[in-house]
Amino acid sequence: MVVLISGSGTNLQAIIDACENNKINGQISAVVSNKAGVYGLERAARSNIPTHVLSHKEFDSRDDYDQSLVSIIDKYQPKVVVLAGFMRILTADFVSHYAGKLINIHPSLLPKYQGLDTHQRAIDAKDQEHGCSVHFVTEELDGGPVILQAKVPVFEDDDIDSLSQRVHYQEHQIYPMVVKWMCEDRLTMEQKSNTFSALLD
Ligand code: GRF
Repeated sequence: MVVLISGSGTNLQAIIDACENNKINGQISAVVSNKAGVYGLERAARSNIPTHVLSHKEFDSRDDYDQSLVSIIDKYQPKVVVLAGFMRILTADFVSHYAGKLINIHPSLLPKYQGLDTHQRAIDAKDQEHGCSVHFVTEELDGGPVILQAKVPVFEDDDIDSLSQRVHYQEHQIYPMVVKWMCEDRLTMEQKSNTFSALLD
């Protein structure tokens, strides 16, 4: 698989650990970041995984950026492309190129709270539960079919830090599990007219 990141890469680390402990029958061929100097790149280097930095600042358009991204990723012929905190909106061409192979983790119980600031929005809404979702990526931002979710309680005295920590812990449980299923060919994305669904074998 190829993993795309923009930041600290704790989910990347959870997947690296699961591969190194043989919990996932697969390996990370490369990690690509759109930002230089992020800690996730160090995590990859520490595990001898090739890294690439492709800065979006060096491109005039989203299309050009995504085409370069595709050419890096395709060198590795990955079975799975894993978005792990990759903070960029992807073009329709990119998404369709990897249809059924592209997965993301989002810090909310989708379809609730697509987009940013999910923890604050859950606190502001006085939700009693919150969580995270792994989903196939389609053109609709955070709108592809959900594969697996984990719920956490929201406590009255929670702030973003305490709540995001609780959610992150669950992310590190469910993302490696879904990656494992992907590597075992157990997951497929099905499309019937405009409706997508995720099927687990
Ligand atoms: C996670 O909260 C994930 O849900 C979101 O970006 C964050 C990445 O965190 N898509 P990390 O870099 O894996 O620690």
